[in-house]
Amino acid sequence: MPAVERIAVIGSGTMGSGIAQVSAASGIETILIDTGKAQLEKARNTIDTSLQRMAKKGAITEAQGIETAKRISFTIDITDAEDADLVIEAVFEREDVKREIWQKVDALCKPEAMFASNTSSISITAIAAATKRPELFIGMHFFNPVPVMKLVEVIRGNKTSDATCAKIVQLAKEMGKSPVEVKDYPGFVSNRVLMPLINEAIFAVYEGVATAESVDEVFKLGMAHPMGPLTLADFIGLDVCLNIMEVLQTGFGDPKYRPCPLLKQMVAAGKLGRKSGEGFYKYQG
Ligand code: 3HC
Repeated sequence: MPAVERIAVIGSGTMGSGIAQVSAASGIETILIDTGKAQLEKARNTIDTSLQRMAKKGAITEAQGIETAKRISFTIDITDAEDADLVIEAVFEREDVKREIWQKVDALCKPEAMFASNTSSISITAIAAATKRPELFIGMHFFNPVPVMKLVEVIRGNKTSDATCAKIVQLAKEMGKSPVEVKDYPGFVSNRVLMPLINEAIFAVYEGVATAESVDEVFKLGMAHPMGPLTLADFIGLDVCLNIMEVLQTGFGDPKYRPCPLLKQMVAAGKLGRKSGEGFYKYQG
């Protein structure tokens, strides 16, 4: 028996559209929800491009790509989530915004529906507390690009039940992913380790130890990273990196997590990485 039959994904940005794609690719009826039609249209194009790219590489057949696309419906009406067995939220990283959405979703979904947040660092326990079903609430942290990256970090909140965790682990496997279970502490495992690495790489540039290009070369050639830490920071978004460093600093109360002043300054200047056209590197198109 499949873990779930119907998934609603809230938030159609890079992560939400990727999650909807892998959900539909594993045979699940998927609803992608956002507040604006333009955002949903962009998500549809992103998904189509990704599926075409996979078909071209022979990773899937063209027919599979078409079937996957057909399984996704796009809507601006959040009440369309009411029949979902699982709701996955992938909206931007603000606890108050997430809590407000979850309160709404909690009121309209069936009582046995499970809830998952794709938050990169906000406490699952804190978000789950906005609902009346914290035992059915869990973290499902996907990685960008979602269709490619194998990991799903499965985060158990303080009240997440064993049954919820087992179902989500099963679901992640059905999506072709490799789930890794972790507990609910700031940054979980992935961003607790990755972000201080990126932040330290930024300090190296800030202090004039090396250029961004040289720092990246060290990691690509010396540690076989597919992208150096500054290319990766641009890929993730410098605002997201700063936000996660702040969550780590506040959550642990330890000054070792202070964000580099250069990171703060670049974000203040609107240099957010790929999405804004400039970060540590310049991007066109
Ligand atoms: N959809 C489908 N397939 C895609 C894709 C997409 N969006 N993006 C890339 N691919 C496929 C390509 O078709 C290609 O397939 P192939 O191996 O069969 O030929 C493969 O992925 C590699 O892509 P490219 O050849 O275009 O380019 P690269 O070899 O440079 O790989 C990359 C691109 C996969 C992004 C690689 O650079 C990489 O792994 N980078 C690191 C990514 C990473 O660390 N992500 C995690 C970020 S942290 C995060 O998300 C957590 C958050 O909380 C911050």
